[in-house]
Amino acid sequence: MKSSIMQGARILATGSAVPNLCINNHQISQIVNTSNEWIVTRTGIKERRILNGINKSVVDLASTASLNALKKIAMDPLEIDLIILATSSPNDLFGSASQLQAKIGANNAVAFDLTAACSGFVLSIVTATQFLQTGCYKNILIVGADVLSKWVDWSDRSTCILFGDGAGAAIVQRCSQQDNGILGFQLNTDGKQFDQLSIAYEEDIASKEKLNIFKGRFNNIIMNGKEIYKFAVSKVPISILKCLNSLQIDTKDVNWLLLHQANERILNAVANRLSVDSNKLISNLSKYGNTSAASIPLALDEALTNNQIKKGDIIVIAGFGAGLTWGTVVIKWKC
Ligand code: ACO
Repeated sequence: MKSSIMQGARILATGSAVPNLCINNHQISQIVNTSNEWIVTRTGIKERRILNGINKSVVDLASTASLNALKKIAMDPLEIDLIILATSSPNDLFGSASQLQAKIGANNAVAFDLTAACSGFVLSIVTATQFLQTGCYKNILIVGADVLSKWVDWSDRSTCILFGDGAGAAIVQRCSQQDNGILGFQLNTDGKQFDQLSIAYEEDIASKEKLNIFKGRFNNIIMNGKEIYKFAVSKVPISILKCLNSLQIDTKDVNWLLLHQANERILNAVANRLSVDSNKLISNLSKYGNTSAASIPLALDEALTNNQIKKGDIIVIAGFGAGLTWGTVVIKWKC
């Protein structure tokens, strides 16, 4: 008989992948009316990676990131019980997680997509943790991957400067309560503001078919930058503080602040509101731009590879974006 005692969960390994094509701000300024100086000053972004090539998709990036994570701990893909792929840019509306499962040979895993824009990775950690804490599964692969370049209007200077493509993966494993590394979370949604940032489906009136059925298509990304900025700077610190308070952790005991990599000014403003020193911010935004669901695991993997994060460190992870969705997960690094 299974014990009803809740188990712990911890991240065992991470991996990441970005496409080879690197587009810098000077190149962007050749296609829209902008400048390197404007982009760097307003966002902190210097360059981004873009997925090109025929038939390349989010699955290619997600599988490379996943295999990199598995390799670090020499784990056989057959040991994975569940795959959660956080993405808003699947290559199939029915989902891409099953293609990821097949591509990495994780034949014993059930797989599904999770759509929550730039909060997708935070929601994936929390979802995975529920399956682990109940004792249901042992090893879960969570992946944040997006290719928003496919949905960007490359003639819109207010959005095309921001986004890049990438993927980050983490293997989360069940453990004893004593070794638990996922300390707590706080999640939010405000659907009334969905249209501040969206890739909307639109019916094409001219396409009326038999039985009065309309067919349509998805538009490019539209964003009210100012409102999203205000939303992030005001709501994210509240979520972080609620989560830390529930865990009785003081902000001065936080070692790292890992926020969704949207804009350097947002990262600094959130750190400032929390009175957390900006040298505790993990940031790789200048190299990759906003990679949506990939941004947090990409930055986490880089920080671990650079030995920035040490065993026992408290990491506050917060995501925010379309939906609107936002939330926090607090981690104690255990490996
Ligand atoms: N180059 C030059 N000028 C520009 C550009 C550009 N690329 N883009 C806009 N401008 C102009 C505007 O037209 C405007 O000109 P005007 O004053 O003559 O009208 C001026 O610059 C100022 O524009 P603002 O929109 O006020 O610029 P702001 O300082 O707000 O920066 C930005 C814009 C970078 C988009 C900022 O609002 C931002 O980062 N917002 C948050 C975005 C974000 O976090 N998104 C996360 C979403 S993640 C997800 O869920 C997918």
